[in-house]
Amino acid sequence: MAVTINTLREYKEKGEAFSALTSYDATFAQVVSEAGVDVILIGDSLGMVLQGHDSTLPVTMDQVVYHVSCVAKGNRGSLIMADMPFMSYGSVDAALENAAELMRAGAHMVKLEGTDWMKDTISALTERAVPVCAHLGLTPQFVNKFGGYKVQGRDEKSAELMINHACELVAAGADIILLECVPAPLAARITQAVKVPVIGIGAGADTDGQILVLHDMLGITTGRKPRFVKNFLAETNSIPEAIAAYAKAVSERTFPAEEHTFKA
Ligand code: KIV
Ligand code: NA
Repeated sequence: MAVTINTLREYKEKGEAFSALTSYDATFAQVVSEAGVDVILIGDSLGMVLQGHDSTLPVTMDQVVYHVSCVAKGNRGSLIMADMPFMSYGSVDAALENAAELMRAGAHMVKLEGTDWMKDTISALTERAVPVCAHLGLTPQFVNKFGGYKVQGRDEKSAELMINHACELVAAGADIILLECVPAPLAARITQAVKVPVIGIGAGADTDGQILVLHDMLGITTGRKPRFVKNFLAETNSIPEAIAAYAKAVSERTFPAEEHTFKA
């Protein structure tokens, strides 16, 4: 049965962890969905892993739409989430127009990076039938504002601010929260504070779901390997087995382990 937003809500209610991975093409989308991964993200990480840029900022709407349409053809029942690229949701009108394009291409929901300034945008989208994932913490589109890729929410003041932002965005209509590179105790607090499913990457084992970039979990990270990455191909004999091992490790909560986690 196809995974929907309700499936993810049920996982949260039951306390069962669910898995997500990025994919950018039809073949990997089919392998990932047939391995039982619940959510496929067409991430703007494609700017780095497919295009070779050193950030996600150069990625365009047309490019994400193209990859969503490829993934939609290969998908066999996972929930398809599409990243809205840099400045494609700079105004509410732009967000509506661009999200519609992603949904027409085959996305089931969209993901936006930001904080409380996104409230009106999120309300406008969800009221008009576009489910939204709000991405908080290390939001890579903000690399130039952050001055690098850094763990977020390390002090109590910024931690409380992030909890408040998550609650405000859920109140505005966000259906999922995604936390990237935040200390595990903060991710656990946010997961308890909001009623919607929370997906983590570099956010510890206590979120409702986990996500990784496909290339990272297959051991083909180029450049510096982030702490939260695990190569699942190293312990298996094929890509489908590696992806199934990831899904199993997430559902059994054996991934992420301590070594993949930021404690504070
Ligand atoms: O673009 C991406 O792949 C992402 C995930 C790392 C969450 O946003
Ligand atoms: Na992204």
